[in-house]
Amino acid sequence: MSRVLAIETSCDETGVAVIEDGCRIVTNELASQIDVHAAFGGVVPEIASRRHTEIISQMAQRALGTVEGRIDAVAVTAGPGLMGSLLVGVCFAKAFAHARALPLIPVHHIEGHLFSPFLEGQPPAFPALALIVSGGHTQLVYCRAAHEYELLGATRDDAVGESFDKVARLLGLSYPGGPSIQRAAAGGNPEAFKFPRGMAHSDDLDFSYSGLKTAVLYTLRDNPSANPADLAASFQAAAIDILVSKTKIALARTQAPRLLVVGGVAANKLLRDRLMAEIPVPVMVPPFSLCTDNAAMIGAAGHSRWTHGHVGNLRLTPNPGLFLV
Ligand code: KG4
Ligand code: ZN
Repeated sequence: MSRVLAIETSCDETGVAVIEDGCRIVTNELASQIDVHAAFGGVVPEIASRRHTEIISQMAQRALGTVEGRIDAVAVTAGPGLMGSLLVGVCFAKAFAHARALPLIPVHHIEGHLFSPFLEGQPPAFPALALIVSGGHTQLVYCRAAHEYELLGATRDDAVGESFDKVARLLGLSYPGGPSIQRAAAGGNPEAFKFPRGMAHSDDLDFSYSGLKTAVLYTLRDNPSANPADLAASFQAAAIDILVSKTKIALARTQAPRLLVVGGVAANKLLRDRLMAEIPVPVMVPPFSLCTDNAAMIGAAGHSRWTHGHVGNLRLTPNPGLFLV
């Protein structure tokens, strides 16, 4: 049996986890900074890195206190993300690995999300098509095998999570926007407004979300008394509809035997329900609590990297613009 200590500090959540054999969570600690940043309507990078610095040692101590036996390797998010935030996690992981003479495994944050459906005791299964939907990414990726990826399509402007956050702001809803829009949409009519499905008829698997956000902005400007619940429901329907239709095309092209849906927006109930109902292969989603950022997923991806021989060293520097494929 092997145990990986995993550290995630790429944005505004401090995460520390211990993962056994790559797919069992021993402990998964998360300190959210949402309260701190909510007043600003988004993440303030300087505040985020300071908060990580203040609590990471205590969190690691607490996490390690619950573990019996040794730790075999340390995995850490090396990018993409906020430089100051990434540095806190990477420096901590380097110090820990050095002090205990353990291998240090750099993990791409999005690869962490990719492994998030495999944390309930079952080992990772590939090949797979992955729909990656977070605050910074909207991608369709074909995963031929662990760590072998082909980018099929991506957003040309805003990420889908980013569009939820921006539209929530327009509607006066709280940050983060995804859960707020989902709540508001529950009481609205998704057909009240016909919002555009960006790039629906393009011949590729790319996405565009900036036109949808602008459409909501103009609707509000021209019709200030529009019902916010109807706006939220119509926006959500359009945002999710285009994800579902492009995923279906990608699945038909790749003939992948399973679909992974990962990233913060994978917590969206409409997206999950539609994919489960309309996709003809098994749809693997993480539990709600593991959709948004956490260290457990970094441990799962890190364990796989480690067993495939992808080990880093103490010269590791975070890369805020790191690409997966
Ligand atoms: O993966 P994540 O935690 O952070 C990044 O790596 O970006 O994703 C955060 C994003 C935010 O944009 C948030 O609004 C969105 O995920 N999100 C949702 C939901 N929960 C979180 N979007 C739609 N519906 C949700 N239920
Ligand atoms: Zn993320």
